[in-house]
Amino acid sequence: MSKYKRTHMCGNITTNDIGKEVSLAGWVQKNRNLGGLLFLDLRDKTGMVQVTLNKDINEKLFDIAEEIKSEYVISISGTVQKREGAINTKIKTGEIEIVASDVKTLSKSETPPIYIEDDLNASESIRLKYRYLDLRRPVMQKRLFIRNKVYKLIRDYFYDNGFTEVETPFLSKTTPEGARDYLVPSRVQPGKFYALPQSPQIFKQILMVSGFDKYFQIVKCFRDEDLRADRQPEFTQLDMEMSFVERDDVIETIEGLMVEIFKCIKGKELKPPFKRLKYQEAMDRYGTDKPDIRFGLELIDLGDILVNTGFKVFSNTLATGGSIKAINATGCGAKLSRKDIDALGEFIKTYKAKGLAWINITAEGIKSPITKFLSEKETEQIINRMNAVEGDIILIVADKNEIVYDSLGQLRIELAHRFHMIDESQMGLLWVTDFPLLEFDEEEKRYVAKHHPFTSPADEDISFLDTNPKKVRAKAYDIVLNGYELGGGSIRIHDSKMQEKMFGVLGFTMEEAWNKFGFLLEAFKYGTPPHGGIALGIDRLIMLLTDTDNIKDVIAFPKTQSATCLMTEAPSEADERQLRELNIKLDK
Ligand code: AMO
Ligand code: AMP
Repeated sequence: MSKYKRTHMCGNITTNDIGKEVSLAGWVQKNRNLGGLLFLDLRDKTGMVQVTLNKDINEKLFDIAEEIKSEYVISISGTVQKREGAINTKIKTGEIEIVASDVKTLSKSETPPIYIEDDLNASESIRLKYRYLDLRRPVMQKRLFIRNKVYKLIRDYFYDNGFTEVETPFLSKTTPEGARDYLVPSRVQPGKFYALPQSPQIFKQILMVSGFDKYFQIVKCFRDEDLRADRQPEFTQLDMEMSFVERDDVIETIEGLMVEIFKCIKGKELKPPFKRLKYQEAMDRYGTDKPDIRFGLELIDLGDILVNTGFKVFSNTLATGGSIKAINATGCGAKLSRKDIDALGEFIKTYKAKGLAWINITAEGIKSPITKFLSEKETEQIINRMNAVEGDIILIVADKNEIVYDSLGQLRIELAHRFHMIDESQMGLLWVTDFPLLEFDEEEKRYVAKHHPFTSPADEDISFLDTNPKKVRAKAYDIVLNGYELGGGSIRIHDSKMQEKMFGVLGFTMEEAWNKFGFLLEAFKYGTPPHGGIALGIDRLIMLLTDTDNIKDVIAFPKTQSATCLMTEAPSEADERQLRELNIKLDK
């Protein structure tokens, strides 16, 4: 038998084990020496148990135990007994203790730079540098255990539904998800580079051409983009693709998976079909295509009321094609001081809005810096439209459409958080559909795909591809949870002529299109089934399942905002020889 053989895990010993001889191993959380009596809190991934040593019973063993410090790795043997001292209701094993008959130190530890406890207030950079210690904390381990459980649920679900998991290459060609590529230089082909995949998009479509019918993969994707709290340079997708399907087949498949995951992880019964919103409606009501629908504060258009207004800010905005929208911050008027309101004005300026107009319905009457510029009728119509009553404040932005959506959409979220308007027990799960196929890139002065260039236009809009590309809707859909974009997918173009046309609309010459994606266009010539799919961001899903808003919390070894790993210190400099072999000269 291995000398490290354990009979139990620390956290799993119960009163049923009283009287049993056990062997355990783990890390010492704490050594409490009360003179003749010494307690070691022993921890492994399952939890903690108290080990007791009595100097009168075994002095030699007591002397060994006295030397043991926090985070030493030890093994112990002993007998389980009911606790003699006070019961600890904070831990699962709080009713028992192990009376040690043997204690061995397997590995010593220096004083760790962070405490191994859940309520840690060490800085994030220290936690990331000593990630192995941070990951010893039960709260961190629990998240990764949940992640592991979700992986099993996903794999079981897809196997049961006839999907095949197929791996796709990491050393590949550029993929079209719109971020910058991470490039890997080739040694054997000097001057050439692989691109790490931003997603397996093209490969999964080619697997459909090959007849795999239903594919899925839990896969790393790499995107060199500006990082945020819900974005990492390398992240994991649940990627899937199906042949001979339409939009609702993909949607139903994912709904079935979500039901499983929420049942097993959260004990929540989701009832498909989930709510659906068309893109334009989501934008109009929430100012975003990933709305948090767990609270109201919806955007309401005031344009028609104000077409002939004398207030120049408003009339000019409408005259130049912009819009005027408002939120009724119900009940907030009474809670916001003048200073608070000014601060909201500053808040929306970070979203490029020029100003915030407001109408506060107070007990003393209407307070507002703009009603003096409006007719009485206009003010009254606004208040009626907004259903505003005493205690409410109407917050108005007039600007270019995108700025109005963005600033009021963000203000809506800010207010909901500040005034605790979100019902955290609800799951705000919905599909957003009918996205525009294209958006105009002002910098590049050309249309770019809103999802990616393989997304099929809606059948009834195909004729607008030549005449009015902005009007074309896509067979694309996003799944949104609590204001986060959890996943996105589409029905694809499966005809090489149509795909060529799409590249044309995106401003590629045929030569460029063939150069980049020729292998796909070629593949489409040999019998392509209609197909579609979706990818979910697994990190974001786990984040939401484990109630954190920091994506780093659910990734074992995440990167910082500047895409570095503080533990390994990647990225690092390459040595001269490596660079020479790769035929690379650095421009100092
Ligand atoms: P998309 O680009 O929408 O679609 O990505 C799918 C999902 O992946 C997650 N995600 C990220 N998560 C963490 N960090 C990031 N940097 C990051 N970028 C994306 C999001 C997102 O919804 N090939 C298509 C899918 C398809 O059409 O089937 C794709 O990759 O949750
Ligand atoms: P002004 O006459 O420029 O002082 O503006 C009067 C009020 O209108 C102030 O409360 C401004 O914050 C507000 N305001 C200015 N520009 C806008 C805008 N684009 N949208 C909404 N309110 C605005």
